[in-house]
Amino acid sequence: MIQTSNLTKIFEDKKRGKITAVDNITFSCKAGEVFGLLGLNGAGKTTTLRLLATSLKPTSGTASVSGFDIVKEPQRVKEKIGFLTGDTGLYARLTAEETITYFARLYGLHNSDLEKRKTEIIKLLDMEDFKKGQVDKLSLGQKQKVSIARTVIHNPPVLILDEPTARLDVISARNIVEFIKEAKRAGKCIIFSTHIMHEAAKLCDVIAIIHKGKILEAGTLPQFQEKYKIQELDDIFVKIVEEKR
Ligand SMILES: Nc1ncnc2c1ncn2[C@@H]1O[C@H](COP(=O)(O)OP(=O)(O)OP(=O)(O)O)[C@@H](O)[C@H]1O
Ligand SMILES: [Mg+2]
Repeated sequence: MIQTSNLTKIFEDKKRGKITAVDNITFSCKAGEVFGLLGLNGAGKTTTLRLLATSLKPTSGTASVSGFDIVKEPQRVKEKIGFLTGDTGLYARLTAEETITYFARLYGLHNSDLEKRKTEIIKLLDMEDFKKGQVDKLSLGQKQKVSIARTVIHNPPVLILDEPTARLDVISARNIVEFIKEAKRAGKCIIFSTHIMHEAAKLCDVIAIIHKGKILEAGTLPQFQEKYKIQELDDIFVKIVEEKR
């Protein structure tokens, strides 16, 4: 579903010079699999996800998503993904429900299909209480749920989620974690970034540790535990990253 091949992004920054944000990354993620990207601030997580979502063009290397090349067929890739990022746009004046309807129509859903999908999403994300609320008056977590609803309304096979639970309360975060598990059960390919280690430990089939644009290691939690003889993912993460600092 996702296959990257020597994916690299170098930013030419006027003040900072050349920044290799993503450095020769190769990995894959299958249908029904959750792939987690863990890394410190500035490690290259968002840039990697933006490359996969075709919001940025790679400097070199490439990737395919659902069989389509991100450089040669970005439009096809866009149809296959739901991309959630910190700046996923919402319209302040619409209600949560109107937002879902609006984006559903954009993706060509109408009438009973639209109503069915809307009901499903509202239930899945536990949005009943605030579906009539205007977006600019919703809490942070409620807005995040609207953003996620918007991202997945067309039921894409690939989900690219940049810190989906950042700044959410414990129950809202659990809702999102459950939502991701449900998506996995439905056979979606999910790649997400997080700073929340216990979340990654719970959710990910494969964990990749990214540092200064490079994937230092990737594997399952049991593989890491066995290799480092350490139980907790945050301790494993710190050990791997500290060795490279
Ligand atoms: N448009 C840009 N122009 C120049 N440099 C950029 C740009 N976008 C990102 N960078 C740089 O690329 C590096 C990787 O940034 P990125 O946003 O991918 O990190 P991240 O792992 O998502 O971090 P965080 O955990 O803080 O979200 C950083 O050094 C960042 O400053
Ligand atoms: Mg980021």
